[in-house]
Amino acid sequence: MSMTPRPPIPSFIPESAPFTPEQRTWLNGLFAGLFGLTEDITPVPPADAAKLLAGLIDGTAGSAPAAAEIDDGAPWHDPAMPLADRMQLAEGRPLPRRLMAAMAQQDCGQCGYNCKDYADALFAKSEKRLNLCVPGGKETSRMLKQLYQELEGASVVEQVAPQTKPVLATAPGRSRDNPVYATFLSRRRLNKPGSEKETWHIEIDLDGTGLDYIVGDSFGIFPANDPDLVKAVLAALAAPPDFPIGGRTLHEVLTDGVSLSPAPDMLFELISYLTGGERRQKAKQLAAGGDPDGDAATLDVLGALYKFSGIRPDPEAFIEALDPLQPRVYSISSSHTCNPARVSLTVDAVRYEVDERTRLGVCSTFLGGRVAPGDRIRVYVQKAQHFALPDDPAKPIIMIGPGTGIAPFRAFLQERQASKAPGRNWLFFGHQRRDYDFFYEDELVAMRSAGLLTRLTLAWSRDANEKIYVQHRMREVGRDLWSWLNDGAHIYICGDAQRMAKDVESVLTEIIAQHGGCPLAEAVQFLAELKAKNRYQTDVY
Ligand SMILES: Cc1cc2nc3c(=O)[nH]c(=O)nc-3n(C[C@H](O)[C@H](O)[C@H](O)COP(=O)(O)OP(=O)(O)OC[C@H]3O[C@@H](n4cnc5c(N)ncnc54)[C@H](O)[C@@H]3O)c2cc1C
Ligand SMILES: NC(=O)c1ccc[n+]([C@@H]2O[C@H](COP(=O)([O-])OP(=O)(O)OC[C@H]3O[C@@H](n4cnc5c(N)ncnc54)[C@H](OP(=O)(O)O)[C@@H]3O)[C@@H](O)[C@H]2O)c1
Repeated sequence: MSMTPRPPIPSFIPESAPFTPEQRTWLNGLFAGLFGLTEDITPVPPADAAKLLAGLIDGTAGSAPAAAEIDDGAPWHDPAMPLADRMQLAEGRPLPRRLMAAMAQQDCGQCGYNCKDYADALFAKSEKRLNLCVPGGKETSRMLKQLYQELEGASVVEQVAPQTKPVLATAPGRSRDNPVYATFLSRRRLNKPGSEKETWHIEIDLDGTGLDYIVGDSFGIFPANDPDLVKAVLAALAAPPDFPIGGRTLHEVLTDGVSLSPAPDMLFELISYLTGGERRQKAKQLAAGGDPDGDAATLDVLGALYKFSGIRPDPEAFIEALDPLQPRVYSISSSHTCNPARVSLTVDAVRYEVDERTRLGVCSTFLGGRVAPGDRIRVYVQKAQHFALPDDPAKPIIMIGPGTGIAPFRAFLQERQASKAPGRNWLFFGHQRRDYDFFYEDELVAMRSAGLLTRLTLAWSRDANEKIYVQHRMREVGRDLWSWLNDGAHIYICGDAQRMAKDVESVLTEIIAQHGGCPLAEAVQFLAELKAKNRYQTDVY
């Protein structure tokens, strides 16, 4: 597709687009109907249209009816799509594809694979752990368990086991399976007093770890649970902290071995053996994914022990029933070229109230409060798969990163500065309030004055009566954005996957359509082509 504006064309889907003739015909009809250009069309439900657009944006477009039988796409590969919709799109597909659809679709690598490779590894039975998908949580592990039952007894050889290739190397500190120890150096709050947010600039010493990284990579951290929560769990169990479990104490295992967040199905199953009557029925329902009292979503391990107070499980059986404590990953916000001795992160501390008890995000509050300077923590570098600066340093870049989404862009800017890259740099940053939440203000202003940051566009969502988000600012400068794209700019989005990334993408599509003078469908295709050429990259969570 040409980068210069052109008049609308009768066919929405270019001949060069990766569709069969039947798919193209169907898609042309769909878009004609969507944009009201013909009445001679079967109406398409909006949800189907949205899924199809998502597929197009992914470059997969597998949800067209003509493609239903083809297993060469993953139209569910969208982190904002609910699990039920993903499973519906995968219906009728081979088991590895349905296993993939059950994953959270972030390709975040926290499980040690990307979504497709984790699914393939489960299918090939080279990976047996069904609870590795951190962002998918209980919902994903439950669906995997259900799907895995199909696999039990099925002959993998008969079904042609796909190649499984773990994405990560296994050298020390290069995967979750082989972390190294690094020293926690410092934390500094990035919000000023009065802010509603608690976001921390974290520094970790890499000395002696042998680790390096490139900008765009993430950093994996193994956290420890809050000691007060551990104490409360021990009290609810009425178990001695020094009870021996596999060479460690119960206290130690509760501290860094198991997750105390959402209560797993296995725990309710265990509880059902230890109670009777109505309580037993409820525990059984909860173990099966039911919600007898409407509180299932908020039951963490301690909440479950309080709900079924008085049970005294054997500590070993109790630990067996819990999920392992998983590492969390954070976008690296520094450049190794600038400072090989340290790595920095930008971490939003997750704290929220449920029934007057403050719940803590385990890793973000570990980094944002519990770990002390000098402490040794287990870490690893998580290589980015498709999130990197352009190979050509002269290419312009556009970075859209509200909130903690700024993290990798601070790293990009440091790297472009250190390498004296001649390409122009444009950052869109936004947060709640300018006076309190302008992360790295001094650095960004200095980069702007030095000319490194060609443009800095800011959006404050709670400074006025109306919400101003980064995409509103993008609309205001749409003509310039289009012009940068025409100059070969690479465009990046980082931050919240559920709402922000979706909304930004849809405004970007509108901008391309408006300033490129083409129909929306062509703009969607244009964006898909940018994606295919690695000129449009996202790091969302
Ligand atoms: C590739 C990648 C890069 C990332 N980069 C960053 C980064 O740069 N900075 C950053 O801060 N994070 C980043 N994250 C997110 C990070 O990995 C963690 O998911 C995040 O810190 C929360 O982890 P936690 O252990 O603190 O919380 P957890 O213990 O995992 O708890 C989080 C869970 O709590 C629940 N929850 C949260 N808020 C509420 C609420 N208000 N009400 C009810 N339930 C709630 C949700 O279920 C949520 O999933 C990134 C994630 C990925 C995959
Ligand atoms: N579970 C939740 O409800 C929830 C809520 C917030 C954040 N989070 C998660 O917390 C983590 C860290 O968040 P963060 O500190 O990076 O930033 P954040 O809380 O996501 O907010 C950053 C900025 O983005 C704005 N924003 C909200 N919705 C947006 C949208 N649809 N489009 C564009 N901008 C939008 C926010 O405005 P306003 O807040 O003023 O609307 C704020 O100004 C992320 O993982 C995020 O997904 C979860």
